[in-house]
Amino acid sequence: VVSDQGSISCTSPSNIALVKYWGKRPVQLPENPSISFTLDVCKTETILRYEKLQNVSEDFQFELFFEGEPKPEFKPKIQSFFQRIITYVPFLKQYKFIIETSNTFPHSSGIASSASGMSALAYCLMQLEKQLNPQITDEEFVQKTSFLSRLGSGSASRSIEGPITVWGAHKNVEGSNDAYAVKFPYLIHQNFANYQDTILLVDKGEKQVSSSVGHDLMYGHPFSSERFKQANENIDKLKGVLISGDLDKFIEVVESEALTLHAMMMTSLPYFILMKPNTLSVINKIWEYRKETGSKICFTLDAGANVHVLYPDTEKEQVMDFIKNELVVYCEKGQYICDKIGLGAKLL
Ligand code: PMV
Repeated sequence: VVSDQGSISCTSPSNIALVKYWGKRPVQLPENPSISFTLDVCKTETILRYEKLQNVSEDFQFELFFEGEPKPEFKPKIQSFFQRIITYVPFLKQYKFIIETSNTFPHSSGIASSASGMSALAYCLMQLEKQLNPQITDEEFVQKTSFLSRLGSGSASRSIEGPITVWGAHKNVEGSNDAYAVKFPYLIHQNFANYQDTILLVDKGEKQVSSSVGHDLMYGHPFSSERFKQANENIDKLKGVLISGDLDKFIEVVESEALTLHAMMMTSLPYFILMKPNTLSVINKIWEYRKETGSKICFTLDAGANVHVLYPDTEKEQVMDFIKNELVVYCEKGQYICDKIGLGAKLL
């Protein structure tokens, strides 16, 4: 028996793309497949309180709290998310919801919370769906959760499972499709176990370009079709790397993807430079350190100035010394987050 009121709490992580999703078509379908590390530390925690209404409501009834404070400015985003997913979770208008959410990472850290936030909400809603339809299998549950997350924010589809997920159809990745992300379906080499991601907060400001504006820049972009082709090739390369453990090849693909993402923004109309001088200083320092020590450290970037420093768990001590001694000076207020590869959304 499903109770008419209750609450569901879950946590869902952020993720960092290795092959980037940049460019989409309606409705939230990717122009190219992408692959990411699911993170462990950077997460959203969401409590969904629900109460059954006497009559089915005309509109969605919900209230929103972020870190304990009411957040009416976030409502339109959730409103349009609900609108998009109601066909798939028709119970939405039968309940009144209170959504309480908070992030483990500092807000206004320049870290996008849409992947963790949207996937956490989708996961809570799917738990309610499971109570109403208990026959749903575990496999259907994760697929549909990723599917709903995608309709909130494309990259959110990749946060439900870990440690590595693929979103978007690729001819050589079994089960991959545009509708939802799947776990990387091959045995991952030991070299990637516990892989580290130290996120340097180079610029904690609001993003200059929202990702939806960013994706739109790929319409009519002079290099878009080449870019989409290249992303497919890079998925092939990365698939090989994740199986073989070839870290030099990993570095090449991942850094090239990060710079290509920014190159796309620099060559679109309007054009943007989202790196800051300190982003470039950090990149140059990483390259010097790699050359001097033979370390397998590398970087990747989101659509912003912060740098994700990726390295094997076996190098943790040395690389953390390097980061503290040489890179932290480039971080705003010396702030950085020690994260690593993680396993996806779960109930609390
Ligand atoms: O999920 P969105 O629409 O916020 O797009 C995310 C785009 C990038 O973070 C730049 C790349 C990616 O694949 O995550």
